[in-house]
Amino acid sequence: MTEHITPKILLDQNIIKTGALTATAYGNRAEVQYEMRFLNSSHLKEMLALQDFIKNDLSDKRVFVPDDKDFLLKQVLMPNRGRAIGVFVNHSLIAFRTITFPGKNHHNLGRDLKLTPQNLMKVAHLESTVVHPFFRGNGLQAKMLMPTLDIIKASGYSYVLVTISPFNYPSLSTIIKANFLIRDLKSRGGVYNGKIRCLLFKDLNKSGLQEYQDIVSIPNSMTYKQEKLLKEGYVGFGLEKAANAFNILYGK
Ligand SMILES: CC(C)(COP(=O)(O)OP(=O)(O)OC[C@H]1O[C@@H](n2cnc3c(N)ncnc32)[C@H](O)[C@@H]1OP(=O)(O)O)[C@@H](O)C(=O)NCCC(=O)NCCS
Repeated sequence: MTEHITPKILLDQNIIKTGALTATAYGNRAEVQYEMRFLNSSHLKEMLALQDFIKNDLSDKRVFVPDDKDFLLKQVLMPNRGRAIGVFVNHSLIAFRTITFPGKNHHNLGRDLKLTPQNLMKVAHLESTVVHPFFRGNGLQAKMLMPTLDIIKASGYSYVLVTISPFNYPSLSTIIKANFLIRDLKSRGGVYNGKIRCLLFKDLNKSGLQEYQDIVSIPNSMTYKQEKLLKEGYVGFGLEKAANAFNILYGK
């Protein structure tokens, strides 16, 4: 199977793509084959087990808020409510990405960007994404993101929103490389329990990169300064690795 995917075909098929990955475990590396597929409620147990393992393995608990069982069942895996794609190696789930279509729900992140009621109906949320530590370093989150955006577009949605911790370099890097823009930064309630999150936005109908002026590079941990720039109309559009952490590039 090639890397190129035709969206309409993609919506109908179970296997989205296949390929090779490097698995790294206890200092050993091996090439393994993977299969990317749509997930359904029969995969719930495996999804929860993978999420729990990854959550417990994290050194910085601020960076990841897992989806709970009820949310996965009722919002993600319920037909027509959301979608999930998973990556399997030797028939075991090693990574997944969840998507929801919030519609009129008050949690619709488009409300934060003052989208019109009509446009709120065209919003898709990227929920969580996880990759088992043995399979990191292959850009698997990015490999899942390409078909995710194709699926969202082919399903008739235009605006993709996602919240990410400003301390999560791998996730911010993948999403910003896909030309999402940081449009907001604040502490969020509900499942985030006061954790600070960037809100990123992408309009699937817009292509091409914008040129930015007044570019400012801010350490990711300087959240107050970023909030101030966002209020002044700047957007976050790039990342730069710095000595111990990373900087976020803002421009107008
Ligand atoms: C976020 C996650 C899904 C990314 O996995 P992945 O696709 O395998 O990511 P990769 O290992 O290929 O790395 C992507 C980028 O992050 C960098 N990176 C990876 N681990 C890193 C680390 N511990 N510290 C700093 N940078 C790191 C890579 O160098 C790469 O950088 P680049 O984009 O500049 O080339 C995975 O780390 C994960 O499951 N994390 C825990 C759950 C989570 O945080 N999910 C996202 C929020 S919902």
